[in-house]
Amino acid sequence: MWTDRELHELELLTVTRLVGLKHTAPAPIATPAAENVVVAPPPAAPAVPVPSAPAMPSADCASLGWQALREVVRDCRRCRLGESRKQAVFGVGAESAPWLFVGEGPGAEEDAQGEPFVGPAGKLLDGMLAAIKLARGKDAYITNVVKCRPPGNRVPQADEAAACAGYLDRQIELLKPRLIVALGKTAALRLTGEEGSLASQRGRRFTYRGVPLVVTYHPAYLLRNLPDKAKAWEDLLFARRVFSEPVAVVQAQLS
Ligand code: SF4
Ligand code: URA
Repeated sequence: MWTDRELHELELLTVTRLVGLKHTAPAPIATPAAENVVVAPPPAAPAVPVPSAPAMPSADCASLGWQALREVVRDCRRCRLGESRKQAVFGVGAESAPWLFVGEGPGAEEDAQGEPFVGPAGKLLDGMLAAIKLARGKDAYITNVVKCRPPGNRVPQADEAAACAGYLDRQIELLKPRLIVALGKTAALRLTGEEGSLASQRGRRFTYRGVPLVVTYHPAYLLRNLPDKAKAWEDLLFARRVFSEPVAVVQAQLS
């Protein structure tokens, strides 16, 4: 567990105290309006419309288990990112973790170490997880929309996200998370299929392939925009509420 000092360094102590997380029930946050409850397309539909994409059909890896999938990703050259990466970054966490966090793509440190979110943004993500009592490698699985580093940390292009889509989809099938948290715009677009701003997607409950999905800011964005950390905190509390909702609610919304 994180000490107060560590939370302070992560600038999360104030917010955890503000909402009384450490001592009392979380502060109430706005209930999403009924019209904001969005059910994502059924499983067969592609999440991102990608005109020029040599989209990898999920069927390509639909029968693979974790180890085989990891090996396919390790050797993958389906898109140009495979040419410039040092190594593919598959994901980290328990293969039965109930929470799935999806970022954009590996950065330089992730490319060098082979693990997602190990740079400064990763430190903040770990703090965010700890603040809602989750731990990397235990309750949370962490991966990215694209498994290989885009050169210069540019945003992955639509055809790259599409080429990599089958891998994330298979990870979701194998993991069977109870909740997916999309970190930032790239993951939000990939998983909601909506082009809208992140601000318009926060606080809404989506589903992706039958799994509840919420959206929040990317930790790297939060490092540059400290005032928005309080909003990310609200998002995490909302995520925790969606995570705790009875399975019956999820089933009713899908039927
Ligand atoms: Fe393959 Fe995905 Fe890497 Fe592209 S980003 S080479 S599709 S693993
Ligand atoms: N940013 C991401 O989106 N993913 C990582 O793994 C690291 C930084």
